[in-house]
Amino acid sequence: MTQATDKDRVLIFDTTLRDGEQSPGATMTHAEKLEIAELLDDMGVDIIEAGFPIASEGDFRAVSEIAQRSKNAVICGLARANPTDIDRCWDAVKNATQPRIHTFIGTSPLHRQIPNLTQDEMAERIHETVSHARNLCDNVQWSPMDATRTEWDYLCRVVEIAIKAGATTVNIPDTVGYADPGESARIIRGLIDTVPGADEIIFATHCHNDLGLATANSLAAVAGGARQIECTVNGLGERAGNTALEEVVMAIKTRHDIMPWFTGIDTARIMNISRRVASASGFAVQFNKAIVGKNAFAHESGIHQDGMLKNRENFEIMRPEDIGLAGTSLPLGKHSGRAALRAKLKELGVDLADNQLKDVFVRFKDLADRKKEVYDEDLLALVHAGEDAA
Ligand code: KIV
Ligand code: ZN
Repeated sequence: MTQATDKDRVLIFDTTLRDGEQSPGATMTHAEKLEIAELLDDMGVDIIEAGFPIASEGDFRAVSEIAQRSKNAVICGLARANPTDIDRCWDAVKNATQPRIHTFIGTSPLHRQIPNLTQDEMAERIHETVSHARNLCDNVQWSPMDATRTEWDYLCRVVEIAIKAGATTVNIPDTVGYADPGESARIIRGLIDTVPGADEIIFATHCHNDLGLATANSLAAVAGGARQIECTVNGLGERAGNTALEEVVMAIKTRHDIMPWFTGIDTARIMNISRRVASASGFAVQFNKAIVGKNAFAHESGIHQDGMLKNRENFEIMRPEDIGLAGTSLPLGKHSGRAALRAKLKELGVDLADNQLKDVFVRFKDLADRKKEVYDEDLLALVHAGEDAA
């Protein structure tokens, strides 16, 4: 077991209400956003990215109200690299107990073509906009969008400029989910080792899941020295989504033996917020989704159910209670065995002798072959049918 110290604290930056809501079709109402922000604050999220204030009147209103109601979390708004966006963002977040401006610009060769800036012109723009933000707010985050496809020397150069201009957090986005874990760790480590002033700021990691690597990349970036993970509840987000909050938080908690880090998240609130975000966004959680999927703590096969009944650690590396679930579920289906059937019947107040159980088990298997899941009512009907026949 490794010993955790303050330098091992990983800040959780939740962007469900900004990057998550950018997912096509995931728009949430004003009331839903306020409620989700409150749940995030209460569960111990360190920074809430509440929206993109220049994007619409609705976003501005939501960010402003979330800022006013905030308790412990830093409230952050997103702004492109221009004074109008940054001023609008500041207007929205300024009443938070702890406001943050997050400004960004695409720095990779492809993204530099969009505003059609040379490397030098972009460097100048970064200096001006980060300085502008810092004149308004003490807490400024800067992101070189598409950082993982930006030339290394240029990335080091612009990160240095942003730090000198006053950025207190530098976020390294893997905007298109292109990086692998080795690269993610090397980029952060390389920046910390190379860029003057890097040891005075916090590096953040912001991963997208296009190759299914967002969680692995985020954890690798932390191993490289990042101390802020940007994520969303249920991994909601553009295309294949962002790093899932519940995955990184539970990975850090569960593998503390090899990861010395910790977060401030009250994990027992995970299930509740997952359900709330799913219903507000209209994005159902897939059954086999890690941590929060319906099947994440369910065991149907006979061998697994028997093992679980003997000792849950046989097939569970986390306790369902730790994410706010009442317990493990052992759904009865055609793969289930006699031990699970006996346990379920006991739970329903039915204690059968071995020969009776054998009989009910045969009829249960027959039913399970025709039905995906056998419910409590089905079982009681099987038991009573047996009694009637006797
Ligand atoms: O994915 C990305 O690059 C972003 C930035 C705005 C930080 O969401
Ligand atoms: Zn993003």
